[in-house]
Amino acid sequence: MNDLNRLALVTGASSGIGRAFARQLGAAGYDLVVVGRRRDRLDELAAELSDVTVRVVVSDLGTDEGIGRVAEICANEDLSLLVNNAGVSHYMAFTALPAGKATELLHVKVVATTLLAHAAAPGMVARKGGSIINVAGMLGFSGPAPLGHSPGRAIYVGTLAHIIAMSQALDQELGAAGIRVQALCPGLVATEFHERQGMDLSALPRMTAEDLVAGSLRGLELGETVCAPGVEQSELLDAIFRADLAAFQGQSPTLAQRYRT
Ligand SMILES: NC(=O)c1ccc[n+]([C@@H]2O[C@H](COP(=O)([O-])OP(=O)(O)OC[C@H]3O[C@@H](n4cnc5c(N)ncnc54)[C@H](OP(=O)(O)O)[C@@H]3O)[C@@H](O)[C@H]2O)c1
Repeated sequence: MNDLNRLALVTGASSGIGRAFARQLGAAGYDLVVVGRRRDRLDELAAELSDVTVRVVVSDLGTDEGIGRVAEICANEDLSLLVNNAGVSHYMAFTALPAGKATELLHVKVVATTLLAHAAAPGMVARKGGSIINVAGMLGFSGPAPLGHSPGRAIYVGTLAHIIAMSQALDQELGAAGIRVQALCPGLVATEFHERQGMDLSALPRMTAEDLVAGSLRGLELGETVCAPGVEQSELLDAIFRADLAAFQGQSPTLAQRYRT
């Protein structure tokens, strides 16, 4: 990683993938701003990473106020890397999911990710450098999948698809200014993510957060916009994006024949 500045902000750094990002970035010499709600966990992390400067920010990204507080930091600090990682899944049947939980999910995964990138990008453009990693997930490609063992995931899947498409478009838009944007797509990773929802997936094969983060940081060096560390055949992803573009370019203003009675 060749960024001139060495300051990274990581959301959701109190456990799992975010904590692994903080540890690997700290080991690479990055000063850090670590964000989450559990102060004790963030303080522990800061104490552990004593070779770099770590600022702990306790903020709830499920609220406009919490997002605003972190966005202000993104706008005012010379960030070289923003890692939008915080997330919840709230798997539940669409009709049963309370509106408050749906709102929290949309705030943490969509509003926070979008507005923190929006706050950080102008400074990165002005400094002609920086990177943004947005943590999405392989489920972002699962929209057409028949309902399997993960029912109740429609909103979560939608938030991941938002992150993937936004990151692809942003990478195009900001690339000219030397900014790299990555949508990181984990499959199943061994963290507290499912456990916190009362799901025990420990019997399933899961990637470690450490491997996932190593893949993401290497993917950034490789210039991958969509980084899927668990996908061996990267041509599978290229095929998705070629098909997306073909469908996009296949449109015309004429009503397609199948809709004419
Ligand atoms: N684990 C997987 O299998 C998997 C697969 C695909 C994608 N992902 C994505 O990976 C990301 C990280 O998840 P993980 O697996 O590392 O799970 P995790 O161990 O549960 O970590 C989630 C992190 O997000 C933070 N967070 C959640 N709600 C927040 C809020 N309202 N405000 C601020 N921070 C909040 C949590 O911190 P506090 O509780 O301290 O606030 C925690 O640090 C998520 O965005 C998830 O969508 C995970």
